[in-house]
Amino acid sequence: MNNRAIAVSLLLLSFTIPLFAQKKTVKDAIDVKVEALLAKMTLDEKIGQLNQYTSDRDATGPISKGSNKLEEIKQGKLGSMLNVRGAKDTRFIQDAAMQSRLKIPMLFGLDVIHGYRVTFPIPLAEAASWDLEAIELGSRIAGREAAAAGVHWTFAPMVDIARDPRWGRVMEGAGEDPYLGSLIAAARVKGFQGNGLGNLDAIMACAKHFAAYGAAVAGRDYNTVDMSDRMLWEVYLPPFKAALDAGAATFMNSFNELNGIPATANSYLQRDILKGKWGFKGFVVSDWGSIREMIAHGYSKDNAEAARQALTAGSDMDMEGRAYISSLAKLVADKKVPLALVDDAVKRVLRKKFELGLFDDPYRFSNAEREEKELNSPKNRKAARDVAAKSIVLLKNTNQLLPLSKNVGAIAVIGPLAKSNTDMKGFWSVQWDNDQLVSLYDGLVNKLGGESKLIYSKGCGIKDTTRSGFAEAVAAAKKADVTIVAVGEAFDMSGEAKSRADIHLPGIQEDLVKALVATGKPVVVLVMAGRPLIFNWTADNASSILYTWWLGSEAGNAMADVLFGDYNPAGKLPITFPRSEGQIPIYYASKSTGRPSTSDKDIVYRSAYIDSPNSPRFAFGFGLSYTTFSYTDLKLSKTQVKNNETFTASFTLTNTGKYAGEEVAQLYLQDRFASVTRPVKELKAFEKVMLKAGESKTVTFTIDKEKLSFYNAQMKWDTEPGEFKLMIGTASDKILLESKFELL
Ligand code: GLC
Repeated sequence: MNNRAIAVSLLLLSFTIPLFAQKKTVKDAIDVKVEALLAKMTLDEKIGQLNQYTSDRDATGPISKGSNKLEEIKQGKLGSMLNVRGAKDTRFIQDAAMQSRLKIPMLFGLDVIHGYRVTFPIPLAEAASWDLEAIELGSRIAGREAAAAGVHWTFAPMVDIARDPRWGRVMEGAGEDPYLGSLIAAARVKGFQGNGLGNLDAIMACAKHFAAYGAAVAGRDYNTVDMSDRMLWEVYLPPFKAALDAGAATFMNSFNELNGIPATANSYLQRDILKGKWGFKGFVVSDWGSIREMIAHGYSKDNAEAARQALTAGSDMDMEGRAYISSLAKLVADKKVPLALVDDAVKRVLRKKFELGLFDDPYRFSNAEREEKELNSPKNRKAARDVAAKSIVLLKNTNQLLPLSKNVGAIAVIGPLAKSNTDMKGFWSVQWDNDQLVSLYDGLVNKLGGESKLIYSKGCGIKDTTRSGFAEAVAAAKKADVTIVAVGEAFDMSGEAKSRADIHLPGIQEDLVKALVATGKPVVVLVMAGRPLIFNWTADNASSILYTWWLGSEAGNAMADVLFGDYNPAGKLPITFPRSEGQIPIYYASKSTGRPSTSDKDIVYRSAYIDSPNSPRFAFGFGLSYTTFSYTDLKLSKTQVKNNETFTASFTLTNTGKYAGEEVAQLYLQDRFASVTRPVKELKAFEKVMLKAGESKTVTFTIDKEKLSFYNAQMKWDTEPGEFKLMIGTASDKILLESKFELL
């Protein structure tokens, strides 16, 4: 390096050291303040900081009554509340906290899962965009709106990997894959926390539910989880580590037991892994009542034992369990819980309150003017519309019926979800009274400048079984040039405590689709749901199908943008769609087995069903476009790779159709032979590429040691020499380029 370069780098270094040191100094300064405050606190005041109640306004779980919350706040017995929102209400509660002896500010948490005032698509829908910037933007806007409404902390992102669509909370996460799920987890944390705690538009993120909640047996919420350490580390933990590496300020544990020990009292999870190996410095909040619920689990004989087990295992704050407030003081007095553990938990909580700037100004987030200005702004709604359009997945377009021309004649708009505003918000939307939700019908009216071309007929209900509306709906379809039918789930048919044993299109909605298709007129089917649904007849017989999930405030406008080609859909499924519940759990990164079935017909003495194809209805990573793409000229920079070497795989992606569009090209690898069997393929990279009609681009993936590593027979994260298969495709079941290389 020449002298000039040395001089420049020294000069740069002279700037960075103070910055780094400054950040460290701030941390030290806060630690000093935390210690000083802790020294003044009584044991009761310390325990108060570990106690969290809900407001009675928007409870998100079973409320336990029997306390005067305002009085407890004034006595310093309540350090945090959830489900309090708005500048006015948060200011009111904060006033009570300022009357406590030490004036320790209250911390306000809320489930800002996919938007605060402007509702974004449900997280599973956003995951279908495979657009990390869009996903981060959605969380950024949600964080900004929530912070403007007095909220300090969101209980998001939910990063639970889910491979069972019977589980209702699949809507809340990023699907089945740890690689995609980890990138999305990090994007959401960065979105919520913005430029860092202390900024007025930043709120604390909370990675949840730690851990493996999505693996509930039979897809039944809160049910048992039992899995190998390898499955835990390879599939369910990576998104949590990604969230932590992205700076997640808090974690939330989960309701489930893991291998016999409830997560809430699981020191392997919370102490060994999270606070030990991973060095987490934030705090862990229990899920709603999960400490108290360890009695029901058959793990704790009473609240006092549950409190001891939970705190000892690293659960710092008790959400709505009333276990800590009722038992910890005596447990410490009886030397059953070391005071040092209580102090550690309290310091973790206080540190976050200092980082948020609440000791400088407890009311800094509760500002009515900022709330008025920030919430539901046109800019925020425009962003929600863009993210929603990107979340839509085109599953079928056989006769290129889509995109529709604006000169199309009459359009029949049919189905129980066609005019629904409420269902567009999906589960876990904050402003349950959110009035400005654009329905599909509204979106069509906006797009076409009026409803003169539209013929509406509901056809049937979501869950009812009466066909009395069919005749009118069929008549509307016969009168129209094209029919758009909107079917699916009501907003509260997926979500917490919403497991479904039958995940077909509910009610007789598929019969309605059949009746409309039978008219012989062109039919576009929109499926709106919080999870993968089963609709085999529709999938086989309808010519165009869009999976629109629940798209939030701007749902109808986004759907209209896609229907009329103002946005060319590019969504890809983040989760496998089964043909039947009998196939569940079904996911792409499966093992070969000793008798792999190579096709739906290959079933004799094969790992296959005799009464169903083995393949899913729609595969992970699948999604069409109004245009087409070709994948050619795969080149590997090396076919023999030393252990620490990186190499590249590049290919030419061409837009071979007539519309500009985006394609998510996916890279999968298989370690062919290893000390433990490896999945037949694992997603290791992807790139979302915009191409004009006829345009080509060279796409290059870099493969490093991390992408070749796995937990070997000794559970050590490492590589092993041998052959790898390299696959590039437009979906996990549509591999278009294949090669192999050897790791030396
Ligand atoms: C609920 C959920 C959790 C949520 C919490 C507060 O039961 O499991 O995800 O953040 O309680 O509403």
